[in-house]
Amino acid sequence: MSDTRDATLAFETDCELVGIVAVADNGVIGRDGDMPWHVPADLQHFKETTMNHPVIMGRVTYEGILETLGEPLPGRTTVVLTSRDLETPDNAVVANGLEEAVDRADTAAQEHHGDADRIFIAGGATVYEGFFPVLDRLVVTEVHDEPDGDTFFPAWDRGSWREASRDEHDGFAFVEYVRER
Ligand SMILES: NC(=O)c1ccc[n+]([C@@H]2O[C@H](COP(=O)([O-])OP(=O)(O)OC[C@H]3O[C@@H](n4cnc5c(N)ncnc54)[C@H](OP(=O)(O)O)[C@@H]3O)[C@@H](O)[C@H]2O)c1
Repeated sequence: MSDTRDATLAFETDCELVGIVAVADNGVIGRDGDMPWHVPADLQHFKETTMNHPVIMGRVTYEGILETLGEPLPGRTTVVLTSRDLETPDNAVVANGLEEAVDRADTAAQEHHGDADRIFIAGGATVYEGFFPVLDRLVVTEVHDEPDGDTFFPAWDRGSWREASRDEHDGFAFVEYVRER
């Protein structure tokens, strides 16, 4: 699978790289370190989708989760991208770059998650941007609102992606996009 991806990042994994994001109609994904909406069904969807998989995220997003939950995401391995020397609990590891993050997530998929076949990329903006060229799939919660925000999902060329499924709800939709090769 890795040979069909954009060659700008050098890593080896048989896992699918899956971006997962909740994004408003105006592209907003965050405000003041949090998400500017309260959609419990989306949090449940995120939990069910990512459970028992490795999840890569930026240090700011990781710290937001620690503040909310008091711990990294239970039942998953969090790979925290940072240039810092962070201390992490058992189910979280640090990576200093995108390739190292995939390597660590791939190891966790094999050793802790029963050969899981997906690695999730869970933001924030800098991390989506860095991984975008090598994502295979996008799991998107489209939030039908236009809130103020300070963090945005990168602009992307929808022509290169196929909408694989859409599940509309009141005020939001769960949508999956697959990259067309
Ligand atoms: N709506 C959603 O689905 C969603 C998902 C995730 C996050 N968010 C929101 O997005 C906001 C946070 O996003 P953000 O873009 O500000 O921050 P972020 O991506 O979570 O974290 C940025 C930090 O990650 C580290 N990092 C990123 N790329 C790196 C690389 N290639 N190598 C080493 N370290 C790297 C750096 O940490 P150091 O500074 O430690 O070096 C950087 O400062 C919050 O508001 C959050 O709620 C929303």
